[in-house]
Amino acid sequence: MVIYMGKIIDGKAISQKVKDELKDRVKNENIDAALAVIQVGNDPASTVYVGNKKKACEYIGIRSLSFELPEETPEEELLDLVRDLNKREDVDGILVQLPLPPHMDEDKVIRTISPKKDVDGFHPQSVGALSIGQPGFASCTPAGIIQLLKRSGVEIEGKECVIIGRSNIVGKPMALLMLRENATVTVCHSRTKNLREIAKRADILIVAIGKPRFITKDYVKEGAVVIDVGIHRDENGKLCGDVDFADVEPLASKITPVPGGVGPMTIAMLMNNCIEAKGLQ
Ligand code: GUN
Repeated sequence: MVIYMGKIIDGKAISQKVKDELKDRVKNENIDAALAVIQVGNDPASTVYVGNKKKACEYIGIRSLSFELPEETPEEELLDLVRDLNKREDVDGILVQLPLPPHMDEDKVIRTISPKKDVDGFHPQSVGALSIGQPGFASCTPAGIIQLLKRSGVEIEGKECVIIGRSNIVGKPMALLMLRENATVTVCHSRTKNLREIAKRADILIVAIGKPRFITKDYVKEGAVVIDVGIHRDENGKLCGDVDFADVEPLASKITPVPGGVGPMTIAMLMNNCIEAKGLQ
């Protein structure tokens, strides 16, 4: 494995490497995988994400099937589509882009996806399997962070890891994955007392708090590895993360930038899961 040595963890370069490895694997092993991508409505951010996922499929050599449903589609119609895709032998992965319109029950839709095709890793069975160390798909953003750390030469075993944020998509699966890597894990959230003191204990600090530039140098131990999951547009239209990069960077031993850190890894891991899904059908 190539180790990327810089202080700034280059998610763009590392995700490109992962995609190139997958592309080679698809070619050398003659893998014919297909991902069904469902978007309901036309939320502009979702359209950008879905477009990027389809582009990545094309680059790697994964077939993508696109389903664009109108905003007012009845929930049962979406569920029928998912059930149909579950049965199709020419479809390996199913991705329903979130958020769904308010009249739909996201949990119900996720539960309808076959765990064998659950490339997002959102199904309760996938989450349960992860929590007891059994095979199953892991949520793509936390899985991407594990890859970023490993490919940057960061040792995880035995390290003090503090995660700020407890969402089902990032914080909780992140904690499970870091445990699997033998880190000592603390999960903090909005009700945590003494957040500063706890964050300062971290050898590896993972921030998914959803507040622009919230984490300043007061939260960071000298030499810590800092991973920023947030992405926001500030008052000047500039992209920024949950970490105040300019303030924290001098203190950190390694740090992810925003953009170009965690973000690009999510799609690379989705592509990885699609190829894994092929092996399960
Ligand atoms: N919306 C924002 N991020 C994601 C993701 O990773 N998967 C899906 N399905 N929807 C999302």
